[in-house]
Order: sequence, then structure tokens, then C-alpha cells
Amino acid sequence: MATVQFDPDHRLWLLTGPTTAYALRVAEDGGLRHVHWGAVLTLAQAVRLAEQPSPAASSFEAIAGVDELAVEGGPRFGPASLLVRFADGTRGVEWRYDGHDADAGHLRVHLRDRHYPLHVTMHYRLHPDSDVLERWTTVENRDDRRPVTVLRCDSAAWTVPHRGTYRMSHLVGGWNSEFQLRRDSVPVAETVLTSRRGMTSHHANPWLAVDDGTAGEEHGEVWSTALAWSGSWRITVHRDPVGRTSWTGGFGHDGLTWSLAPGETLDTPVFAGLHSTGGFGAASRAWHGYVRRHVLTHPAETRPVLYNSWEATGFDVDEAGQLALAARAASLGVELFVMDDGWFGARASDRAGLGDWTPNPVRFPAGLGPLVAEVRRLGMRFGLWVEPEMVNPDSDLYRAHPDWVLRMANRQRTEMRHQLVLNLARPEVAEWTHGWLDGLVRAHQIDFLKWDANRPFTEAGWPGHDDPDRLWIAHTRAVYQIMDRLRADHPGLRIETCSGGGGRADLGVLARTDQVWTSDNTDPVDRLGIQAGFSQLFPAQVMAAWVTDSPNVATARHTPLRFRFHVAMAGALGIGGDLTTWTEDELKEAAELVAAYKRVRGVVQHGTAYRLRGDGALTAVQYVHDGEHVVLAWCPVRRYGHEPAPLRLTAVAPDAVYRDRKTGTAYPGALLRHSGLPLELPPGDHASTLVHLERLG
Ligand code: GLA
Repeated sequence: MATVQFDPDHRLWLLTGPTTAYALRVAEDGGLRHVHWGAVLTLAQAVRLAEQPSPAASSFEAIAGVDELAVEGGPRFGPASLLVRFADGTRGVEWRYDGHDADAGHLRVHLRDRHYPLHVTMHYRLHPDSDVLERWTTVENRDDRRPVTVLRCDSAAWTVPHRGTYRMSHLVGGWNSEFQLRRDSVPVAETVLTSRRGMTSHHANPWLAVDDGTAGEEHGEVWSTALAWSGSWRITVHRDPVGRTSWTGGFGHDGLTWSLAPGETLDTPVFAGLHSTGGFGAASRAWHGYVRRHVLTHPAETRPVLYNSWEATGFDVDEAGQLALAARAASLGVELFVMDDGWFGARASDRAGLGDWTPNPVRFPAGLGPLVAEVRRLGMRFGLWVEPEMVNPDSDLYRAHPDWVLRMANRQRTEMRHQLVLNLARPEVAEWTHGWLDGLVRAHQIDFLKWDANRPFTEAGWPGHDDPDRLWIAHTRAVYQIMDRLRADHPGLRIETCSGGGGRADLGVLARTDQVWTSDNTDPVDRLGIQAGFSQLFPAQVMAAWVTDSPNVATARHTPLRFRFHVAMAGALGIGGDLTTWTEDELKEAAELVAAYKRVRGVVQHGTAYRLRGDGALTAVQYVHDGEHVVLAWCPVRRYGHEPAPLRLTAVAPDAVYRDRKTGTAYPGALLRHSGLPLELPPGDHASTLVHLERLG
């Protein structure tokens, strides 16, 4: 259920979802104020809440209540969500309420400036099957002559009820260490989470959760938000000295401007918010449900087991080598064979060739045709690595179009990984990019693209353009448009989002891709933390995870094959090792483990996930789907040789009985909850197990 109610006397709206409600009102000054975000209330109760005096009212802070989209103007001194400057130099906005309309859970509140023809619509949308509230903002300059400079236009500001303390959970990291979950107390300050890189980034993810410091995995109130945007972004969390906490967020980072031309409209991405009462676990499950039902395009599909050649070959790619890998991959039960970097142009290393998207004639003398045909004959689908937004200066593309890159007059062109960024905000560059991708996919009926982006923006200028900063937003939109167009024209095409691993993972890109390359770090011990962080927002079906060689190429850690598989089975399983070096025993064990994964992947990929433990000694996740339960448990180190404490299952009914599909042992639910699931872990470090239970009545 999703309803929108309006109280005309108080000019207050109440949006109600399955278990939460959200209320806002028009204030005396014409702006929109926050009223409520939390448990379900009646309209009358929301009105009473709105009448409560602000704890901050004084002559130094005269705005009572927190704005839904704060502007400059009047006595407002916190971070503004909307910052504008008119052509005559006037800054800020003075609001006038301009009506509203609503249909099917979508409320649009219209505001305009009292003097200037600047119109703003604030959108609130609830789906009947989710407590996730989608919010975004539309700004329109109806002046027929003069532009308006937009210095900031956030999607939404979120406010939580007044609590004594506030804690913030967020995801930080770097290349090879993405999605590290941190829980920090929110300081009385403005705390900025941001990416200035033109990409979502490895360093911070535009998801955060706020609680009062007492929530746990399965209990407590949690307010969390996620921005659906894949370029630069900024979220400012503001805890003021009188105790209110709110945060405003949107696309673009500090200092960028957008000149809104006469008649032009700026639409922000969705900033989605979720209130949940069952702790961080329930919040994640609600996000997973939302991603499945309202973000992903093919949520019901089961992701195939893929093979990727990157760790096996690096840039040393050729037809014979790929054929050898493909034959072995097929024998293991792999369903999708993906050739990574190194197949095109003069791409023998990362120094050359990016931009020249034709098969290297020495490595593939007859083009890709023979490889694709053989992969298909082996019963697998075919996928290819591409990096469409980038160019090596040592490439035919750059020699022909040195002006196509992001650049500024009188500034150097900083190279990272010997490459520059193409300015896809330029229509001819976007058109060219779409053209070669479309041709490539069409020529070989390619099933899958791994869409990579291996450097951030620098010197992001657009010489000759009178509003160059807009490229920061227009580039990302162009990426979205190319993906959307490719998918519309090639309905069978699936896309993996990648930016040096998990540098572009967000709800915006997931609306046009099918999975995320989670991290270039494939070490299973490191992956446990990366995957736990990733699972805060994203469901297992989009989390690509490969089994690679031991010792691991990034960490030199030795781990058993079974442990590597069990860790990768927590998501969309792939294999990325050099199969030509695996022994017969390893290949046999790998084939068995792939088969075991195929038996449980429906539950893992489409099930409801419960993070049971993650205490260092034991990490475990339980997936539940249609009466089937899969438990994956990993013991990265056995300190003192001690066994971990019993693994108690949370998602079982005490009065039901659960049978282990492999051993046949039946367990009463009450005991699984109370004394735990007996785990048959091999001795020593890097021990792991997979248990598949079914509910018997
Ligand atoms: C990035 C990706 C890797 C691989 C390389 C190829 O780093 O994350 O998986 O595709 O590029 O250059």
C-alpha cells in the first residue's frame, strides 16, 4: 500500500507505505518543512507533530523546523540543498507555495520564487510494496531571457527525529578495499561524504544509515538513504548543537555550477530513503527488495556462472590462449565466458590502444568470430571487456581526436594508468561511442559487456563551451543513455558495471546494468569484509565474485580452493583463475563446487539474506527462498585453535523442522535458533562450509 493524504487546513501531506510514514508541510514562509519520518501515523497525529515548537527557535536561529530542501535566504545558516544566483546578482530563494498534485503514491509539491520565474517541483514517490521513499527535485527557469546560475541542486534533504545521540554507518575504501563498513558517531558539525572523481568512487559510496547508537543487526530503528547517481556526488550530514540531524545530498561536488538557460529544466537523480525498525539487517533486506522490484531490469533472472580471463592472462591475450581457457571453463560448468582487457588495438599493456576497438590483428587474425563460435559451441555465452569512456594518448583515436578528452586550456592533461577521459557530454563523442559499441555487440551477438572505467576525472574542462561544468553531470547522463540504448536495441545484452572493481556501484547504474564487479581484490579473506559492506545496500544477485588462483595475486595469501569457492558463492559466482595451471584434482573439485553452487544459487541470488555473524572468528550469511535455506559460513582464522561459538540461525521458525539436504539430518527450528547449526568445518584457518536446508512443514 502507498497512500498520499493531504490536510488542506495545515497544508500538510502524509505519505504512508507498508510500515512507515513520511510527513511534510508548507510553512508560514512558503517553504516546505519536514514533519515526520518513521512509524505509521494518522493524519491528525502528523498535524500535532507539526505543531511542536522547534527546539532551536531564538533570535539567532529563527527558522522553526528543518527544511525539506534548504535554500539560502532568511535566517538559514546550515548547508543549503538549493543554491542559486539570478542574473542580477541576487542569491537565494524566497518561496511561494504553488500547489500540488498526486497520483499512485507520487506526490509533487510545486514551489516558485516570490519574485523570479524560478519553479521547483519536489517529488516524493512510494511504491505499494516498499518502504523506500524516492525523492528528487526539478528546477525550471521560466525566464525567457536570462539564465540562472545553479550552484547546488540536491535531490533531497532527510531529517531524522530528535534523539540523544546519532551514529552513522557508511562505506569507505579504495581500490582493492571497497565497501568497508564504518560506524562513527555523528559529530556536532557538518560531515561531508563526497566523490569529486566524476565516478561514484571506491572511496565513499552514496549510501548511509543513521541510528541512535543502539541499533543492531536485527533490532532497532535505522534511517538509511542511497543516491541513484554514478558521477560526482555530495552528501552533507548536519548535526546542529541543539540536537537535530539531517542530511542533504545530490549530484555534483562542491564548487561546480550549472547555468540554467531560459526555459531549461534540471532534473536531479533519485535520493531514496528508508526507515526500518528491524536493525541493519532488516534495512538491508528492504533495500534488496527495492533494488529487485524497482531498480533492476531483469531481477528474476539467475546470473550465470562466468569465467573471466583477466587474472589468468593480464594483457597477454590471444585466440589460442582464450580457447584453452574456454575449454577448461566449459568443462567446469561455466555458462558465460568473458574475455577481458587486451583483445583490441595495440593493447599489449595499459600504455596503448584504449579507444581503438577493433580486434588486434596479430592476436585475433580472423577477428573475434572463431573465438565467439567456439565459446558458443562449448555451450557458453560470450562476453567482452570494454572501457568506453577512456582513451590512451597512444591510440589512433586520440591521434585523430585529441580534442575529444576532458581538458582545460593552459593546463596539463593528467594521465592516470596512461589514459585520459573522453568527454561524453559532447554529443559527437557520445554518438561515436554508442556507434562502435552497437556495432561490436551486433556483429557477434555479444551477450555480456563488462563496462569498465579505470580513472577519475581531472582537468575536467570543455574548451569553447560557455558552461563547461555541466559536463560533470552530462557525462554520466550520456553513459546512462548509451547503456539504455544498447539494452533497448539488444534485449539479450547484459552489462556488468565496473570501475577498477567497485568504483561505480550505485542505484543509478544498477538501473541499466545487471551486476557489479565488486572489487579487483579477489582474496577471499579480504572479500568477507568487502562483501559484508556491499550487502548493506545491494542484493547478492548483483555481487560478482570470482574464484582465482592461490596465492592471491593482490595479497599473496594462500587459501584452499573450497574456501575461495564458498566465499564467491555468496554472490554471482565466477571463476577468474588461470585454469591452465590448475591440477586435475583442482579441476575436479572446482567442477563439483560449481555444481554445488548451481543447486543453491536460486536461494542465494533470489533469497532473503540474513547476516548471521561477522565477528572475525566466524562470518556467516543465511539465505532464505521458498522454504529453502542456504547457510554459508567462513572461518578466516582459528585463533588458539578454538572453535567459533555456535552459529544460531535467526530466520527459522521455532516450531518447524529443517532437513539438511546433503546429510538428511533433521533439526528442530527451536534448536537451530537456540543452540545453533552444527558446522562441519575442516580444521585450521580458511575453513568454510555450505549447508542447504529445507523446511519440512
Ligand atoms: C580494471 C578491472 C579489472 C580488469 C582491468 C583490465 O582494473 O577492474 O577487473 O578488467 O581493469 O585492465
